[in-house]
Amino acid sequence: MKLISTSNYEKLSQLAAEEIILQIKKNPSLNLGLATGSTPTGLYKELIRDHKQNKTSYKEMNTFNLDEYIGIPKKDRNSYHYFMCENLFEHIDIPLDQTHIPDGTAKNLDEECSRYEQFINEHGGIDLQILGIGQNGHIGFNEPGTPFDSRTHIIDLAESTRKANARFFESLEDVPKQAITMGIASIMDCKEIFLLVSGASKAKALARLMNGEINEQFPASVLKTHQNVTIFADKEATAFL
Ligand code: F6R
Repeated sequence: MKLISTSNYEKLSQLAAEEIILQIKKNPSLNLGLATGSTPTGLYKELIRDHKQNKTSYKEMNTFNLDEYIGIPKKDRNSYHYFMCENLFEHIDIPLDQTHIPDGTAKNLDEECSRYEQFINEHGGIDLQILGIGQNGHIGFNEPGTPFDSRTHIIDLAESTRKANARFFESLEDVPKQAITMGIASIMDCKEIFLLVSGASKAKALARLMNGEINEQFPASVLKTHQNVTIFADKEATAFL
């Protein structure tokens, strides 16, 4: 794993955006894996700014999101569909039918998981995946204990994850208890991975990732066995390194 540490969150977002834009220029039909949450929003702002200024085009690309809550309709402001439209898709020129997110309202959720996994494979796999990390080491919504050989599946969200994400909802009770997430093996299949880590609340997790052992109790540790991972971390996140 290569670690790039930056003086602040803005720099982290800029550097990651520059790398992604370079890759899009080299390969306009890049398959880009996306994450939600607070961490990548600065990166998405940079991609939007660049699209407006420099006309970088997303017309030929496909995007694949890591996860979606179960039971939240796409149009609900708390769905990851809504989040992605608001924070990225509606500000760039990507056709919406080339943006892919698991359907957390599918009638048959197990079938939806297999469909999504197969769909990514049919598109030739993900070239570059953006990841954030949970304080408990989750990647995607793969909570501690998720097998390293897992594929896209339904997961019960850890209480700590629901609490961390309650800031987006009116109350903790409104936070869904389950989500569909790409599995650990699905993430490991991505050709390249950018892990973004920002803020003091992630410092312990980053230190455990860098210095701890590879263990299913700390899902992100699997990334140590991937050939092409770059970690972008800001100063606060590197406090314990
Ligand atoms: C989001 C996702 C999660 C988040 C993680 C960090 O699609 O898969 O793993 O990346 O929970 O969230 P933030 O960035 O809000 O701290």
